[in-house]
Amino acid sequence: MNGMNDREESQRQREYIKKIQGMPQITGRKYLVVTFGCQMNERDSEKIAGVLEEMGYARACSEEEADILIYNTCTVRDNADKRLYGRLGVCKQHKNANKDMIIALCGCMMQEEHVINKIRQSYPYVDIIFGTHNIFKLPELLYTRLESGSQIIDIWKDTDEIVEDLPSVRKYPFKTGVNIMFGCNNFCSYCIVPYVRGRERSRNPKEIIREIEGYAADGVVEVMLLGQNVNSYGKGLDSRVTFAGLIGEVARIDGIRRVRFMTSHPKDLSDELIQTIADNEKIARHIHLPLQSGSDRILSAMNRHYTRQGYIDLAERIRREIPDAAITTDIIVGFPGESDEDVDDTIDVIERVRYDGAFTFEYSPRTGTPAASMTQLAKEKVQPNFDRVLQTVQRISKEQAARFEGRVMEVLVEGEDEKDSTRYTGRISQNNVVHFPKSGLKIGDFAQIRLDKCKGFYYNGIVL
Ligand code: 5AD
Ligand code: SF4
Repeated sequence: MNGMNDREESQRQREYIKKIQGMPQITGRKYLVVTFGCQMNERDSEKIAGVLEEMGYARACSEEEADILIYNTCTVRDNADKRLYGRLGVCKQHKNANKDMIIALCGCMMQEEHVINKIRQSYPYVDIIFGTHNIFKLPELLYTRLESGSQIIDIWKDTDEIVEDLPSVRKYPFKTGVNIMFGCNNFCSYCIVPYVRGRERSRNPKEIIREIEGYAADGVVEVMLLGQNVNSYGKGLDSRVTFAGLIGEVARIDGIRRVRFMTSHPKDLSDELIQTIADNEKIARHIHLPLQSGSDRILSAMNRHYTRQGYIDLAERIRREIPDAAITTDIIVGFPGESDEDVDDTIDVIERVRYDGAFTFEYSPRTGTPAASMTQLAKEKVQPNFDRVLQTVQRISKEQAARFEGRVMEVLVEGEDEKDSTRYTGRISQNNVVHFPKSGLKIGDFAQIRLDKCKGFYYNGIVL
């Protein structure tokens, strides 16, 4: 951009934060960040919230109560887009009741030109629009809006900047996500992410470690390392660090008791990583390994760069080396040209790998991706296949969950059980949820829990 380095840029934004702190219109004001989509967006929202709190805004409990309302959007599938437009309609009423209310939009959807055009035309009461590459600029954009009163749109097509040195608030005091890389270079033919999140760039390992050491000193016991394809972490950096090397180092940080990561691409998951996990109890026994399809023909049309057999072999290696690991996945049904036989192949892989959990998505054409201009399947053709896949993954993940029934597992206490305030909810290393009596434990503690009863997707447990 303007030749500044990342530290100078964050310093510049800090100056705007100071200016806003001094503005009379901030006193007593509240903010709310509403997040759609994945963990990347969750993490970005924590950064946005951190910056707003630093300015002096307090957290609002509802959209109606907010003086600044930010929607951090997702566009990976069409239903996420629709949800935003629905919410924006309701916002207009809130804004009529509170004239000074500021509505801001950011996130992946804002990187699409047709979205910006639609908002310009149909939602003129939106005050600030920014994208995925310039979240750190929020202080400057908000200051400009407060001073000028006009609509501000600032979208960057791509960036090689990584400005991380700004405040963030954590949704949970005891766990957080940590970005280790941004963007994606894979261009799976159905996927909008490479267009809206830009080219892949890895953060410097020293900065990642320093950040996590800071969290550990502040009471964080679990971190999730975030990237679209963590297995290719380190490409393009001067230091020759691999993802396996990085995660091993993170697990050595004092105070960090559990390390998760998301997401793995099967084409890049190394034996070194499998071994690192197997050798290190602090690394979660959970690998999310998106399959997308079990048919070679469809995998090739999706540009996934692996075959069904290659995937099955990889899953077998994981099961052999880390027998307790949970393997979860994402599956798309209804990709252009997919036949019933292709779906049979997907179901066959599900039965061989025996997923501990799976998200099943109906294919959704995204403007600008190669698959969107292929001949699309009729909805009526997709639905029965979607149901077949869903039934298979549900049956198998129930059976898989039963394998831990009766076992004593380490559980991180994450919060009160929503249905019973005498109980807590937590997660085992494999990511399954457990409910258990409070028994004098605190949120953020680790406890030994016997998983007495498997209830399909969660367990009821007893504290030992
Ligand atoms: N349609 C349906 N599902 C999609 N995903 C990504 N793009 C699409 C799309 N166009 C799914 C993939 C990915 C997950 C995050 O979302 O399964 O792994
Ligand atoms: Fe999308 Fe493929 Fe990149 Fe995942 S790896 S974000 S599915 S392009």
